[in-house]
Amino acid sequence: MKGMPDHEENMKTAVEVLSDVQSVLVSTGAGMSSESGVRTFRSENGHWREHRAEDLATPEAIRRDPKLVWEWYRERLITSDEIEPHEGYTALVELQDRLGCLTVVTQNVDGLHQKAGLTDVIELHGNLRTASCIDRCGASPVTLTASVLKELPPVCSCGAVLRPDVVLFGEALPEDALRRSLDLASSCEAMLVVGTSMVVYPAAALPILALDAGARVIEINPEETPLAMLSNVICIRSGAGVALPDLIERLRS
Ligand code: OAD
Repeated sequence: MKGMPDHEENMKTAVEVLSDVQSVLVSTGAGMSSESGVRTFRSENGHWREHRAEDLATPEAIRRDPKLVWEWYRERLITSDEIEPHEGYTALVELQDRLGCLTVVTQNVDGLHQKAGLTDVIELHGNLRTASCIDRCGASPVTLTASVLKELPPVCSCGAVLRPDVVLFGEALPEDALRRSLDLASSCEAMLVVGTSMVVYPAAALPILALDAGARVIEINPEETPLAMLSNVICIRSGAGVALPDLIERLRS
C-alpha cells in the first residue's frame, strides 16, 4: 500500500531499473483497466464473483445459450466503447516514446492500450472488436457494432451463430501472439506486470520466464499475487493509474 515504508524504497528501485534498461516488456491484466471503469474478473465486484466462467466464457456455453453469452459480451463491449484510457496508459505511452518502442502483452480484450496510443500490443486473449462464425464456415470476421448486436445472438451469413474473437476457456491462445510473448519475456531486460492476479496461464508464466532469464520484474498491483512469493520481484502495491504516472514522472526528473 502507498504510505508503507517499502513503497518508497520499491519505487526508487523500480525507477533505477527502468532508467538503466533499453528493452521493457509490459504485461497487463484486467486491473490495468480498472481505473477506467472496467470490471476485473476476480477482485471485489469482478465478473467471476457474479457469474460462473463456465456459463459465459467457454465454447460449450456459446453453443448452449448464445443469447445469454452475447448479452454479457454486449454489455462489456458497450462499456469498453464508452471508456477512456486513464493516466496510467498515458504514462506507458511516454515510456514507449522514451524507449523508442515498447511491447505490451495483454490479457485484456477492451482495446484501451491501442486507444491510448500504444502501438505494439499483443492481445493474448484475443479482442472484442470482431466476431467469427462458430462453425468456421470461412466467412470474414464481422466488426462488432451496436447494430450487429441489436438482435442477439448475432448470426453469420451462413446462418450459424457468431462468436466473439476472444479466447474462451479451454481454447488455445493465438499461436503467433503466444510465441512472440514467450520470446520477448525470455529476452527483455525488465518486465512491468500490471493488474493481473497471475492465476491464468500461460500469461502468468511470462514474469517467471523473464526472471529465469535474468530480467528485473516490477509488479504494480494493490493486492498481493503469487508473484510476491518469488524472490527479486519489485512489488509496488498501488493502482496502475497512480503508480505508472508516478514512475514515469520520477524517470523524467
Ligand atoms: P483478475 O480479475 O483475475 O485480476 C485483476 C487484478 O488486478 C487483481 O490482482 C487486482 O488486485 C488487480 N487490480 C485491481 N485494481 C487495480 C488497479 N487499479 N491497478 C492495478 N491492479 C489492479 O484479472 P486478470 O488477471 O486479467 O480470461 O484475469 C486473467 C484472465 O482471467 C482474463 O483475461 C479472463 C479471466 O477469466 C478469459 O476470459 C479467458
